[in-house]
Amino acid sequence: MPLCADDVRDLHRFEIKILLSLERLMKRYRWVPEDVLRHQTKLSESELHYRLGHLMERDMVKSSSVPYKGYQMVFTGFDALALHGAVRKGSVSSLGCLLGVGKEAAVYEAMGMGVVALKFHRIGQQSFQTVRRSRTYMPQYKHFPWIFASTYSARQEYDALTALHADVSVPVPVDINRNLVVMTFIHGVPIVQATLENPDDVFASVVENVAKAYHLGYIHGDLSEFNIMVDGKDVWLIDWPQWIDPTHPTAEETLLRDITNLCTYFSRKYRVDASVEETLAQVVG
Ligand SMILES: Nc1ncnc2c1ncn2[C@@H]1O[C@H](COP(=O)(O)OP(=O)(O)OP(=O)(O)O)[C@@H](O)[C@H]1O
Ligand SMILES: [Mg+2]
Repeated sequence: MPLCADDVRDLHRFEIKILLSLERLMKRYRWVPEDVLRHQTKLSESELHYRLGHLMERDMVKSSSVPYKGYQMVFTGFDALALHGAVRKGSVSSLGCLLGVGKEAAVYEAMGMGVVALKFHRIGQQSFQTVRRSRTYMPQYKHFPWIFASTYSARQEYDALTALHADVSVPVPVDINRNLVVMTFIHGVPIVQATLENPDDVFASVVENVAKAYHLGYIHGDLSEFNIMVDGKDVWLIDWPQWIDPTHPTAEETLLRDITNLCTYFSRKYRVDASVEETLAQVVG
């Protein structure tokens, strides 16, 4: 369910209070019991019901009556809390159109200090298993690993952008809140949607950026024509949550896969003379 700007703007302070309480209580309860929620929010029974009704209408909360009356916050509610946090901090002032929604993220255009992109990470149970396998890290949300996994994924991307943006062509990170990364907006398109006039130059520029990132300790891990953006002049590498560092046990194969993807795309589509061995040597050399 995509986030609706009006729904977030119109949230009443009691509704924010309920979402914040659910976020906290979901560490302990699979379904947060109604009386515990009442105690935490200090709202009257009728106010609580009225506000929960609003939140459920907007698909931010769901309820269950078995085995007892209880509530859970769902992804849209978590996204709303993250956006609310960024608005309070001043990094976002209004939400614009949805640029893309996929398995693991929803990206919006928005206004902040200039035009920004908002990336809400949405990692579910299945992808979480992968995150857990590659990290010796345990969830703090026993019942809701998606909260942990999505927040963790956002943090990973924000950390990479922070470390890289001075030297590598990536979006500049502006803010992070829960599963949301706010970054500068790129006025371009993924290369898969572009017809490149200068494919050799674009390829060389991507390789140069991959090499710089590698020497700063970052291997992208999902490099493809979908995660490279162009505007006719510049090139950007986007989508960094799955980065690994060059000492990681799978670093070698991950880098090789990234470079193979890159070379395959440029040589098949544009007949660029892109040898995997030479490109790899250029990156690590
Ligand atoms: N900083 C940005 N500026 C402008 N557009 C962006 C920016 N970041 C991402 N986008 C747009 O959003 C799309 C998805 O972004 P990204 O690749 O980071 O997410 P993703 O994890 O691949 O999402 P999905 O789950 O849809 O595959 C990009 O293809 C691009 O069109
Ligand atoms: Mg992507």
